[in-house]
Amino acid sequence: MKICKTIHNMHAACRALRHEGKRLGLVPTMGALHEGHLSLVRAANSQCDVVAVSIFVNPTQFGPNEDFSRYPRTFDRDRELLDKEGVDLIFAPSVEEMYPQGAITYVTVEGLSDKLCGKSRPGHFRGVTTVVSKLFHIIEPDVAFFGQKDAAQAAIIRRMVRDLNMPVEIVVCPIVREPDGLAMSSRNSYLDPQQRQSALVLHRSLMRIRELFGNGERSSAKLIATAKEILAGWPSVRLDYFEIVNPDTLESVDNVSHGALVALAAFVGSTRLIDNIPLNV
Ligand code: PAJ
Repeated sequence: MKICKTIHNMHAACRALRHEGKRLGLVPTMGALHEGHLSLVRAANSQCDVVAVSIFVNPTQFGPNEDFSRYPRTFDRDRELLDKEGVDLIFAPSVEEMYPQGAITYVTVEGLSDKLCGKSRPGHFRGVTTVVSKLFHIIEPDVAFFGQKDAAQAAIIRRMVRDLNMPVEIVVCPIVREPDGLAMSSRNSYLDPQQRQSALVLHRSLMRIRELFGNGERSSAKLIATAKEILAGWPSVRLDYFEIVNPDTLESVDNVSHGALVALAAFVGSTRLIDNIPLNV
């Protein structure tokens, strides 16, 4: 497994592999890897000849009062996990390497970037699309793998690739959960045992919506009101948003149909967690 810290080395290594005719898969991450990330790596391994994983805690997608500086950084452990998965290349640049002084160009998917998490995290998706564009240019993958865990992120990246004719295929993989339903996240490590227990209500509220939808309820307002009632029973959980949206446009829907996306974000203590569920029952 080769580890590249500079853009020049990574670009050259990927070019060489692609010249050999290898199908190159990329899994972009911010490290602190868990089974969710590894599920993307396994999907990449099964669909590609060579797999690259980027590990970069991207400052441009964090707001000024967010957790950039305390975001978990576990490079040695991540490297071991990726080695075991048979990953070929790790790209782990420094912030200075990715954003040299004077970098002022951004990629914005207008209209989508201010939906869901974009509303409460202004600039977040601009940071994501900018860094993912840079990774695509440096690595030139044939396929890139993202998780449904960040459903809005996946929709925004799919749209960016379409609108800017980026020659990369986007694959979105299902959410990996803990046995008790909590969606895996690098931020779960911030939770104390009590908070970890409270956080289970997020998935429970989504499951209840799925059940009501399965029983025929189609009113978005009614479904959301039920979920909010469930969440209100947990004072340590502060809801940021709970929406039912079209999974491509991220616009709220009034009458819910099959394929709609139920998405939420909530603070448990000071930790912001997200989760979602597609209504495809
Ligand atoms: P990060 O949060 O590290 O996530 C990397 C990828 O893993 C994302 O595509 C995310 O959706 C996926 N992922 C995280 N938890 C998952 C889970 N429980 N099940 C399935 N997939 C999961 O998302 C980012 O990093 C960044 O925004 C990035 C795209 C790397 C740009 O900086």
